[in-house]
Amino acid sequence: MDYVNEIILERLRTLLKARLGIIISPSLSPRVLRKLQDYLEQWPGGWSGLFIEIDEKRNDLALKHLADIFVITHTYFFREHTHFDFLKNVILPDLQDSRQTELRIWSAASSSGEEAYSILLSMIDFYGDEYFQLDAGVLATDISRQALEKGVTGVYSADSLKNVPKQLAERWFNPDEEGTVIIDERLRNEVTYRWLNLVDPFPPFRRPFHVIFCRNVMLYFEEEMRSAVIEKLSRSLASGGWLIIGQAEDSRPARNWLQPVSGSIYRKSTLG
Ligand SMILES: C[S@@+](CC[C@H](N)C(=O)[O-])C[C@H]1O[C@@H](n2cnc3c(N)ncnc32)[C@H](O)[C@@H]1O
Repeated sequence: MDYVNEIILERLRTLLKARLGIIISPSLSPRVLRKLQDYLEQWPGGWSGLFIEIDEKRNDLALKHLADIFVITHTYFFREHTHFDFLKNVILPDLQDSRQTELRIWSAASSSGEEAYSILLSMIDFYGDEYFQLDAGVLATDISRQALEKGVTGVYSADSLKNVPKQLAERWFNPDEEGTVIIDERLRNEVTYRWLNLVDPFPPFRRPFHVIFCRNVMLYFEEEMRSAVIEKLSRSLASGGWLIIGQAEDSRPARNWLQPVSGSIYRKSTLG
């Protein structure tokens, strides 16, 4: 493989930051270096070929390969559980009061599906089996193809259920022979997984969303990019819709377009 010298690293750093919002540490870990090496070996033209392909020819597949190498996909079920309590105790009753039977929820930067399934489990906990009478579902998007694949498969370690309320875990997760658990097919069918880069212009959505979770991803973005993403998310909300951001993230730009409900929860005006 071509040696990863300072010039290459700088170009890589600039590219990842501009195209994916990913900030890489000054020195690459052995794990990342190994993955880069494996990828470059299959890539004709080495580094310069790769940079031309991504920067000039806008080869999305090559960018996706790089995203797979650098993303941090750490997540778990019911992470920051107060958001799911808020969904169940405030947002869903509000949508029910307004006789909303079509529910559009987006887990943006969903990683491997734990967030999307936690949303779904909260909805099922609230609606009971009536949930399946609604025109509802969750869109889960990310830039990590492995993470999206894991969400589609719905197989998790038994340990990962520790934050899932017991009655929901028992009903919706089935143990398999390998000692892992697989989420019930009925729930898997309720989540649509798509590759979507938050930094790019959003695709035209059929209808606006009632709730968007976009958590623990923008903390890696620079201020200007974070603000641009929050603006796009706000525009993707229905009037009266809710945006939920990670608790450790700077969500202040959201105040430009939405009303703060708490430090990490925002609502679009019902007039907007
Ligand atoms: C730390 S995980 C957070 C997962 C989940 N939202 C949570 O709070 O547990 C961050 C996720 O953001 C994704 N990500 C990073 N940059 C992204 C971008 N530009 N567009 C979309 N997703 C991105 C990563 O692939 C990763 O799965």
